[in-house]
Amino acid sequence: MNSQDGVKNARDRLIIALDVPTAAEAVELTNRLSGDISFFKIGLQLYTAEGPAIVHRVLASGANVFLDLKLFDIPNTVSKAVAAAAGLGVSMLTIHLAGGRNMIEAAVAACPPELLLLGVTVLTSFDSESLRETGVQSDVEEQALRLAGLGADCGIRGLVASPHELVALRSRLGGDIKIVTPGVRPAWSAADDQKRFTTPMEAVQRGADYLVIGRPITAHPQPSEAARKIVSEIASAER
Ligand code: C5P
Repeated sequence: MNSQDGVKNARDRLIIALDVPTAAEAVELTNRLSGDISFFKIGLQLYTAEGPAIVHRVLASGANVFLDLKLFDIPNTVSKAVAAAAGLGVSMLTIHLAGGRNMIEAAVAACPPELLLLGVTVLTSFDSESLRETGVQSDVEEQALRLAGLGADCGIRGLVASPHELVALRSRLGGDIKIVTPGVRPAWSAADDQKRFTTPMEAVQRGADYLVIGRPITAHPQPSEAARKIVSEIASAER
């Protein structure tokens, strides 16, 4: 791979979280970053406020969209929502693996090959005590590995996982499953509310396929410059 291929490959692995309240702000960010970034994540806040129209607008800029809706409902409802998301033309979509086998299998069955369905295990806002309150006696890591294994068993091809789970997940599930990792902070940026983060380089070295990064880029005075620095850090981790 020559260095230009390396940068292209690295750029395709960086997903920017569009955690903003309005379409206007999201479009401004995508316009500012369109030369450097090819993937944006639209989450519950922006999608609830602006609906499918914002997905179409980001796709029209030529970028890919990760629709982070973390679906969790009865199998019939989730399978229809997966099909609807596929119809929007997004490239990635999240479901909660805690929804169980029937729900996961229904989601996988409704998912066309061009859409990567990602399973969410245990949210990082949980600790062992809050899990216990929901009736789960395992600790967070054990429960996350159990749900990831269930997802893989049901045919899921991707996971969202924190940098700290990457090594255990790779050793349990191997190299084929795609892993998307938030909770990443370059050494030069503020931690914000992320508590247990790693650098982009560490996350890639531990086995992340894609990195989701928001504020270090979106709140940076020069977002393109911040994005380029992170892409080159990912590229150097690949060598
Ligand atoms: O701004 P920041 O880089 O912290 O944004 C990270 C993105 O990843 C946000 O959209 C956040 O919801 C998401 N995320 C996270 N930690 C998790 C799961 C998702 O920060 N454990």
